Amino acid sequence: MVQHIADISVVHAARVSTGMSELDRVTGGGLLAGMVLLIGGDPGIGKSTLLMQAADSLAGKGTVLYASGEESPAQIKLRADRLHVKNDVLLLCDTGLEHIISVAKDKKADYLIVDSIQTMTCEDTDSAPGSVSQVRAGTVLLTRFAKESGTAVLIVGHVTKEGAIAGPRVLEHIVDTVLYFEGDRQAGLRLLRTVKNRFGSTDEIGVFEMGESGMQQVVDPSRLFLSGTVSPGCAVTCAIEGSRPMLAEVQSLLIDTSFGSPRRTCAGIDAGRLSLLLAVLEKKAGMRLSDKDVYLNVVGNLRLEERGADLAVALCIASSFFEKALPAHTAAIGELGLTGELRGVAQMETRLKECYRLGYTHVLVPKNIRLPRVEDGLTLLPVATVAEAVDTVRYCP
Ligand code: TYD
Ligand code: MG
Repeated sequence: MVQHIADISVVHAARVSTGMSELDRVTGGGLLAGMVLLIGGDPGIGKSTLLMQAADSLAGKGTVLYASGEESPAQIKLRADRLHVKNDVLLLCDTGLEHIISVAKDKKADYLIVDSIQTMTCEDTDSAPGSVSQVRAGTVLLTRFAKESGTAVLIVGHVTKEGAIAGPRVLEHIVDTVLYFEGDRQAGLRLLRTVKNRFGSTDEIGVFEMGESGMQQVVDPSRLFLSGTVSPGCAVTCAIEGSRPMLAEVQSLLIDTSFGSPRRTCAGIDAGRLSLLLAVLEKKAGMRLSDKDVYLNVVGNLRLEERGADLAVALCIASSFFEKALPAHTAAIGELGLTGELRGVAQMETRLKECYRLGYTHVLVPKNIRLPRVEDGLTLLPVATVAEAVDTVRYCP
């Protein structure tokens, strides 16, 4: 049926909170009826834990069916006890998707959790569980069920080390929303990142910490990604993650190359971007880097993908090069161009506010932009070029 777009009325569906604002944030404000959500991540990162916590909260608002093909009822009960699950979550340990869906229909489930898609099988697909065709057929079946019944379906998908052949990647186009768990397993820190969202913005991140009784939300994560040290090779910037400003610290170590071509090892920023910044520093700030091995790391396993971090990366390398720490309480925000000029980035005001809130009193910013009004205690240090910025380190007392 052809319709006039003006005649279509939109009913704003109600969002249901998962009980955790960090999880709500990455879903775009909570769950919607009939939505299909995929949570991917390495085995052991905490997908089942987070979903059991969400199940508990959702069970206070509707019927939740938790279908697991991974663990025995006793194992799941142990986890639920550890998480102090209070509400009535229905549990089904099964791997047949048709059966799971018929139980969900029977129980009129408002929420269906499928843990994990790799363990599930569909009757009319005869390849092994976990294969691309099984995983895809299963997701299609669940999606159809969600759209017909209005049940929100939450699917767990393991990312396999072997290149994720049958992993969540092959499902991204079928489902509505895709979240990925990242993070430092040792440090207990977990980032949940929105990769796709038909009902909200992407690039949002939720921050959690794995504790003794499950995932604890970290509602004010900026502090987490700072080492607190003022020593040569460190610089702080403010990145925008989704809708939220977040301080990040980059650290570098430079040593003389002993043999062959110099090594460039980096974690948390794009290797190509690092090469580009090194080239600009060499050519425009007169720093000889072609005989130095460069190691670069973003503290807390954060991934910095935006250009606003360029200036901080350049400064941390300069700081290591001259063996001089940046002045205390100083941050840097700006994109670096190939001619060595500094450019502004979006949401400058938000970023500056966040820097100030966390005790940074001086911020290096690009000179050629219209700067926002800032708090009295905050001093902006405008610099036009990378050479000027590097000089603030070079001639730092
Ligand atoms: P799990 O949710 O089972 O991971 P996934 O479903 O992604 O494979 O969590 C696995 C790890 O989390 C496991 O090593 C134990 C740890 N954990 C805690 O540290 N605290 C807790 O409260 C729980 C339930 C698990
Ligand atoms: Mg699990």
